[in-house]
Amino acid sequence: MSAQPADRAALEAFWMPFTANRQFKAAPRLLARAEGMHYWTPDGRQVLDGVAGLWCVNAGHGRREITEAVSKQIAAMDYAPPFQMGHPLAFELANAIVGIAPPGIDHVFFTNSGSESVDTALKIALAWHRVRGDGTRTRLIGRERGYHGVGFGGISVGGMVNNRKYFGALLPGVDHIRHTHDPARNLFSRGLPGHGAECADDLERLVALHDASTIAAVIVEPIAGSTGVLLPPVGYLQRLRDICTKHGILLIFDEVITGFGRTGSAFAAQEFGVVPDLITCAKGISNGAVPMGAVLVKGAIYDTFMSGPEGSIELFHGYTFSAHPVACAAALATQRIYRAGLFEQARAMAPYWSDAVHALKGRRHVVDLRAYGLVAGIELEPRPQAPGARGYEAMVAAFEAGLLVRTTGDTIALSPPLIIERSQVDRIFETIAAILDRLP
Ligand SMILES: Cc1ncc(COP(=O)(O)O)c(C=O)c1O
Repeated sequence: MSAQPADRAALEAFWMPFTANRQFKAAPRLLARAEGMHYWTPDGRQVLDGVAGLWCVNAGHGRREITEAVSKQIAAMDYAPPFQMGHPLAFELANAIVGIAPPGIDHVFFTNSGSESVDTALKIALAWHRVRGDGTRTRLIGRERGYHGVGFGGISVGGMVNNRKYFGALLPGVDHIRHTHDPARNLFSRGLPGHGAECADDLERLVALHDASTIAAVIVEPIAGSTGVLLPPVGYLQRLRDICTKHGILLIFDEVITGFGRTGSAFAAQEFGVVPDLITCAKGISNGAVPMGAVLVKGAIYDTFMSGPEGSIELFHGYTFSAHPVACAAALATQRIYRAGLFEQARAMAPYWSDAVHALKGRRHVVDLRAYGLVAGIELEPRPQAPGARGYEAMVAAFEAGLLVRTTGDTIALSPPLIIERSQVDRIFETIAAILDRLP
């Protein structure tokens, strides 16, 4: 197929994910090539990548180191079974990831996506309590407005209504703490919002309702991306950690978007100084070049599983493509790039980024601005009777103006590759400002 499908019929067979298929196929937005901070459309138009693809391509597109590692690996060994067999790159990668993980988190279980990482983490949490002889702890707690992928576990603990309402009763025994979004007190906060640490106390309410002896784990995103870039209020994550510790509940941070330098630290756990028991990640682990995900686990949890008979499988879980050799090669090359100082580069750019975001204050339609590390949420006032329409039109207008952004509802979410330069930051915000000025 040429990069430019001939007509609408050629677009039909592909049922596109999380996409308004008919709307898209009537006016497709196609990408054909990528390098550095840019994409190019099939007709050669350059598009600045404001979202690292989909929060994945932290080191920028087309990194030669990654391409070469992938080609070399696929030629040397295309696939190796991960059950009862191993290959050296998987162990090397696990060590590399543990090397940048928060203290005490020293084991890695490989998956192929964020959704698989979430379901894996939830299963590890349930199994851990059972292996310890605390098998009544079966309840899983998520948070309103949370996004944890699209597996049944992830949508059950997730808190986005459209992702849940079509799919039946979901997992039993799941509950949700309240979300932290509090525009009345936190509008236009610089850095983390000052109000809302007490939202964590909602977990005490659920403990009082269900009893701690029934609760296995709590899962939250340190920064909630998919519901519009919601930053954790100062002190909130620590409070959640303290309540979990007090009641013997495992704390899972879903770092699928915050992992690998997005905040300026390797993980948000380090950035915010709060160590969970498990971390889920994906996306940036391999710079988006080959699908991969992982669950990072505290040594104490792993050790509990290792206490049974030596010859027995400790966790009945895994994927055919766990630690796929080509994904491992891509991820190892990616981690080498990260180690050379990319997270520090992101941290150094963050103040400039934040200034540029907050300079949009007062622009037409802008009702809130949120920025941290190299993340931003630009919340637009929804059009009466048409929530999401303004956001969608902003995304289309940006693409036509040569800028890739993502919108969720009426919030423009930005998460550029961490290699971004000041002139490119300027371009992103000049483009958005111009779009806001003319958007109805
Ligand atoms: C916090 C979070 N968890 C999980 C996922 C799911 O990841 P995937 O789409 O790779 O399954 C995402 C994807 O955006 C995410 O943002």
